[in-house]
Amino acid sequence: MTDASTAEARTDDTAAWWRQAAVYQIYPRSFADANGDGIGDIPGILSRVDYLADLGIDAVWLSPFYPSALADGGYDVDDYRDVDPRLGTLADFDELVAALHARGIRVIVDIVPNHTSNRHAWFQEALAAGRGSAARERYIFREGTGENGELPPTDWVSVFGGSAWQRVDDGQWYFHHFAVEQPDLNWDNPEVREDFLKTLRFWSDRGVDGFRIDVAHMLTKDLTEPLPSRAELELLPQDGTHPLIDRDEVHEIYAEWRKVFNSYDPPRTAVAEAWVSTPERRARYASAEGLGQAFNFDLLVADFDAEQFRSIIADNLAQATLSGSSTTWVLSNHDVTRHATRYGLPPLNGRPVKQGTEWVKAGGPADQLDRERGRRRAHAATLLLLGLPGSTYLYQGEELGLHEVAEISPEQRQDPAFFRGGEFDGLGRDGCRVPLPWTAEGSSFGFGADGAHLPQPSWFAEYAVDVEAADPSSTLSLYREALRLRHRLQTAESLEWVETGRVDVLRFARPNGWQVVTNFGAEPFDLGADADAVVLGPVDGGALPGESTVWIAPQELIG
Ligand code: BGC
Repeated sequence: MTDASTAEARTDDTAAWWRQAAVYQIYPRSFADANGDGIGDIPGILSRVDYLADLGIDAVWLSPFYPSALADGGYDVDDYRDVDPRLGTLADFDELVAALHARGIRVIVDIVPNHTSNRHAWFQEALAAGRGSAARERYIFREGTGENGELPPTDWVSVFGGSAWQRVDDGQWYFHHFAVEQPDLNWDNPEVREDFLKTLRFWSDRGVDGFRIDVAHMLTKDLTEPLPSRAELELLPQDGTHPLIDRDEVHEIYAEWRKVFNSYDPPRTAVAEAWVSTPERRARYASAEGLGQAFNFDLLVADFDAEQFRSIIADNLAQATLSGSSTTWVLSNHDVTRHATRYGLPPLNGRPVKQGTEWVKAGGPADQLDRERGRRRAHAATLLLLGLPGSTYLYQGEELGLHEVAEISPEQRQDPAFFRGGEFDGLGRDGCRVPLPWTAEGSSFGFGADGAHLPQPSWFAEYAVDVEAADPSSTLSLYREALRLRHRLQTAESLEWVETGRVDVLRFARPNGWQVVTNFGAEPFDLGADADAVVLGPVDGGALPGESTVWIAPQELIG
């Protein structure tokens, strides 16, 4: 750090470390398998902490590693305060946190408060205790309709498809927003609230730095009778009064959580997964009295298009000002088609769009995938993102430029969304959850000793870590260099747009003189004298080639 303004902006060692952090999402069962059972585990992650340190990230976010039947990839939690025995032990977890902290990497864990699994002790107790019991009050049980209660209470549909109600042996029905194995909790019940406070303290006491809150906008519900029909429900505004989504009183819960977070030094952080209707409503989750930060998923549903990127960037920076939080950039995660693939397909391909009340897969067929183009655009988009103010969330495997895996047979698929055909692309989400290739040779490409829980295609060899680490032009080398430079260049949380004279070229400058230029079009863009100040990205004859990004910076900043 040579420059005073830059030094001031580096927040790594302060309570605000998260504001501009590069956070790497680990999907534990597909990262590295140390015990050879085909499922990634905590000792596997521990064996790769040097890899994470070399990558240059500031934090890892661990998707659920709790005991689970994996009916929804671990988002069906049996016990919130333990580690799945297939993934390790609490002692392994402690060792992992210590190893990551020793390398300056912070740890975020996933909290799934909307629902437990159906194997959770509470749900088992609710089944055994019967109607009217206190145990059933922790969930959402209702009588059915029809002559003998044989029909569900409403015609509501779950996110993964099929009815949102399931009948139990004694004839009552319970509500599940997601899979049948994920009964929704009743957040009006003080016992439920108390138990999650205990969970937050449990992990905070173990040294966890922050939390990612699963479907943070769904916890509270108003199920006062008469309940609306599915058609009526879809017409209701999501303005804080909708019976199921983004209700105003959910923020009372997060205000309580904030007190717990702030009782630690440094305060624990949280980021909300909240798919809500407007930037203003999202800002509530990101407020300093609430969770503090909320995911911005706008780029997950945008095309590789200058105009779309520009307005998304401008809107989200404005929104961050509203909440006082920093914004969050995401191109890939465990729920969506990998961005290298999205960008190599015709617009909208691989993504679901809503037509009326139906979700359909739009765009051309998957065989139209242009891998090279997808890679090129993915590099351009990632460099643009890493140059923006705010934090960036990276998903394991994107640093290798991995594409979505289409070659998974129906028998090998695991995602409940595939089997029930809900609000996801018809193939579900397994294609982005295939275990990582670490080596071009060897069993399951170095993932584990004995196979992988989802099939890895032969083309994974080209993307293996050992291959890419040895190649200076690989995606991995680009990510390492970008993250290294980003640490040096990081500055105050703002940008200014610089006019380029082209609608398909975006250029912005950060307060310390760091500039990012992205050419979304096909025609090269002349960089003039700035070509000599390019510190990252391709330059060809003084010009920025089509579908690429460069970083320009004064020499003294990278020194
Ligand atoms: C998670 C999904 C999960 C769902 C239900 C989502 O937001 O990211 O992977 O299926 O919540 O827990």
